[in-house]
Amino acid sequence: VGHALGFSALELATREGEIVSGLLTSRVAEMMERRLIGESVARIIGEREFYGLAFTLNGATLEPRPETELLVDLAIEHLPMGGRLLDLGTGTGCIPVAVLANRADASAVATDLSAAALAAASGNAGRHGVGGRLELRQGDWFGALAPHPGPPHEGEGEDRTFDVIVSNPPYIASAVVDGLAPEVRDFDPRLALDGGADGLAPYRVIAAGAGGYLRPGGQVMVEIGYDQGAQVTALFGAAGFRTEVRQDLNGLDRVVCAHHL
Ligand SMILES: C[S@@+](CC[C@H](N)C(=O)[O-])C[C@H]1O[C@@H](n2cnc3c(N)ncnc32)[C@H](O)[C@@H]1O
Repeated sequence: VGHALGFSALELATREGEIVSGLLTSRVAEMMERRLIGESVARIIGEREFYGLAFTLNGATLEPRPETELLVDLAIEHLPMGGRLLDLGTGTGCIPVAVLANRADASAVATDLSAAALAAASGNAGRHGVGGRLELRQGDWFGALAPHPGPPHEGEGEDRTFDVIVSNPPYIASAVVDGLAPEVRDFDPRLALDGGADGLAPYRVIAAGAGGYLRPGGQVMVEIGYDQGAQVTALFGAAGFRTEVRQDLNGLDRVVCAHHL
């Protein structure tokens, strides 16, 4: 109601007795209809808070989740002064934007397969004043880092190695996606959820490719489903990484940190 009327939470409480025009009440009613069929409040108002910052959503972006804030904490902690971050599958750009907003010395590259998601990420980077330190690249995982075809572009030939590689990839098994809560299944884009037959396909690609893009002492940090710790640890172990699993605030396995040996 506050969003439809343009009222802050305080105004909602203090302007209680005001008569609202028919146009505004029909706007509220329309939003209530959307909520009743399972669309989240964040999607209806078009933004969601993450790491204390507001992120604009569009139809191609996942709604950022609070569990993912752990990845931001870990990246901020591990990035050296002037460090470079790579975020694979950036969606709204929430991870690199939150990191850069808290680390004025750092820079980042963020990728996504979806051009529409990258458009949202670009807007969010500008909104939070970090656009000059965030490069956005479209493509399939590490394929996004390949040089553009055709004549050289500005910035090409730059160092393509990173101190920290983060990713919150799609990690739900294809068959499970259809059984998710309607708020997720019907409104979060399938490309952001579906991790292939066993939910691990993106981790295989990231574990196999990350070594070629990490600086000495660098780390890969990937968000996982609460029950994927052993499998994702095994994938990174087989690719030559030493791993540890970190828990979120609910005590659930949430991030695998992989140190390059
Ligand atoms: C779970 S969402 C995470 C989005 C955002 N990082 C966050 O934490 O809210 C996964 C993202 O990976 C992107 N994605 C899916 N397949 C991809 C691929 N093959 N290459 C690059 N990005 C991909 C999706 O478009 C989506 O934005």
